[in-house]
Amino acid sequence: MDIKVDLKDKSYIVTVERGALKNAGEIFDLNRKVLVVSDDGVPSEYAYEICSQSKTPVVAVLEQGEKSKNIENFQKLLTLMLENGFSRKDCVVAVGGGVVGDLAGFAAACYMRGIDFYNVPTTLLSQVDSSIGGKTAIDFCGVKNVVGAFYQPKGVIVDSDVLCTLDGRQFAAGLAEIIKMAATSDARLFELLENSDDIKADIDEIVRRAIEIKRDVVEQDPTEKGLRKVLNFGHTVGHAIEGVENGRLLHGECVALGMLPMCDESVRVRLERVLEKYGLPTKIVWSEEELKPYIKHDKKAAGEFVNVVRVKNIGSFEFSKETADEILKSVESVR
Ligand code: GLY
Repeated sequence: MDIKVDLKDKSYIVTVERGALKNAGEIFDLNRKVLVVSDDGVPSEYAYEICSQSKTPVVAVLEQGEKSKNIENFQKLLTLMLENGFSRKDCVVAVGGGVVGDLAGFAAACYMRGIDFYNVPTTLLSQVDSSIGGKTAIDFCGVKNVVGAFYQPKGVIVDSDVLCTLDGRQFAAGLAEIIKMAATSDARLFELLENSDDIKADIDEIVRRAIEIKRDVVEQDPTEKGLRKVLNFGHTVGHAIEGVENGRLLHGECVALGMLPMCDESVRVRLERVLEKYGLPTKIVWSEEELKPYIKHDKKAAGEFVNVVRVKNIGSFEFSKETADEILKSVESVR
């Protein structure tokens, strides 16, 4: 099925369909030079599938991991395009998770002031989150996503067949972000996640509904002036845990933990149950001293206050400005 992201002259279609990767040449315009960007953790047949349907493919395979989202790789992609004579009419296709999509999207945004960018997200997390909404970036001087641009793709293919090669932990980490979206914005999707007997069988519907949530948010607030901040539910405490753990926990696992202190008791009981059901962590074992520096320097902070999202009832949310101490008090209450 096609989901339209309506952003006026920057609108695009997200094709959500099993097996769609095999028809990429019909969905995207690949009858030109195509820079295919992937990483060595992504099965090579997915990038090959795009190459075989492109008129003139040029391939860049990065090392897997956040460290690849750097200025050297950005330069490498630009150099490849320049050396291969890419013009403004050519395009970039990302085949991978959020790191590949963010980097390739940013290179597409900058080359000749912007050439067409397509995204084929291959992790559950990137299918429902980073591939939709046009956030592109690299990390710089140790600061995540600090250099980037809002640059919408021309098209996105979400093919759940590619999830069969995703390991269970990565799959669960993607589910954490879907649980997050359902908790703030779709009570029925939350119930589906609670009641599903076979998540793999239900994944197409779950992914589609998560994309629709993200689409609705991005259409109303493409550049994160207000509503889009709802997607940061669980991210203040989550980022603090991610900072302390320094790569040992996946982003989705940290978000799972970070949501727990930000809900009312009745929501927390249900949230904890659904996180446990999918093998996600629910015990916050880090001390106040460890978490506090990260919470104080959260990028969502304005002065001494941090903008956080709270959930009192499943399917709805409130924005709240809180001090680091208030947030840490909530963390203490769920230990
Ligand atoms: N991942 C959060 C956003 O796209 O705004």
